[in-house]
Amino acid sequence: MLEIRNLCKTFAKGTVNEHAALRSVSLTVADDDFITILGSNGAGKSTLFGAIAGTFYADEGEIILDGRDISNLPEHKRARVIGTLFQDPMKGTAPGMTIEENLSLACNQSSRFPLARAVQKRDLAKFRENLARFEMGLEDRMKMKVGLLSGGQRQALTLLMATIAKPHLLLLDEHTAALDPATAEKVMGITVKIVKEQRIPTMMITHNMGQALSVGNRTIMMDAGQVILDISGQERQMMTVPKLMTMYSGARGKELDNDRMLLSQ
Ligand SMILES: Nc1ncnc2c1ncn2[C@@H]1O[C@H](COP(=O)(O)OP(=O)(O)O)[C@@H](O)[C@H]1O
Ligand SMILES: [Mg+2]
Repeated sequence: MLEIRNLCKTFAKGTVNEHAALRSVSLTVADDDFITILGSNGAGKSTLFGAIAGTFYADEGEIILDGRDISNLPEHKRARVIGTLFQDPMKGTAPGMTIEENLSLACNQSSRFPLARAVQKRDLAKFRENLARFEMGLEDRMKMKVGLLSGGQRQALTLLMATIAKPHLLLLDEHTAALDPATAEKVMGITVKIVKEQRIPTMMITHNMGQALSVGNRTIMMDAGQVILDISGQERQMMTVPKLMTMYSGARGKELDNDRMLLSQ
């Protein structure tokens, strides 16, 4: 379980560019929660992930993961228990290393010797089996350098790397947004499967409102550094994209200003 209490982050404090990106965000993510996160551009969604993953330290507030306060842990230590995926398929894998070496690194990340590069034989069968699920032919190219893969293949590999060591939390920041529609759908389908099978508490940022309501079990909406909506259960089942947009403009007195989002019904 993840507990976020009164998380605050202001960028460029004391300058003309000062910007409060997180304004006292509190949120509890249960073990079986798959939360989708919506919000217009600049709402603070990626900043929330950055604060949780330790890309930077929050100014105030606590982040408790499975009972442990990780607020002051550096990013590389949090990475042992938090899997992250971003929009850019070039992030998250080492291009000069092979597929199996990348997966091996990910497996060893939570062990005592995180940089042990040797690929264990028993791991290979597991890698092959997991790669085959993507139906991208990756299982037959395990000795290929990752830099030679397409964006979609690379993102699929990153997803596997982020989840193979069973993280305590998975953060997905528009991880299928840069992929072509067919590949995006494939990667999304496998994401849902992996999360369900391994019961990984998951938070996923998406600009697709229809997807936000259909994937996972709970949807939150952020605006101006705050969580302004948190729906689950029956309320979420009854929710539609037009209703969500009306609720947003009603609560904020303005229209959702993310063009991409308006197009994605
Ligand atoms: N490193 C940074 N330095 C200064 N301002 C930042 C930084 N990161 C984000 N911001 C600002 O914080 C706000 C929230 O950004 P972000 O969390 O990326 O929004 P979202 O992901 O919801 O689109 C934006 O106004 C953005 O310009
Ligand atoms: Mg963002």
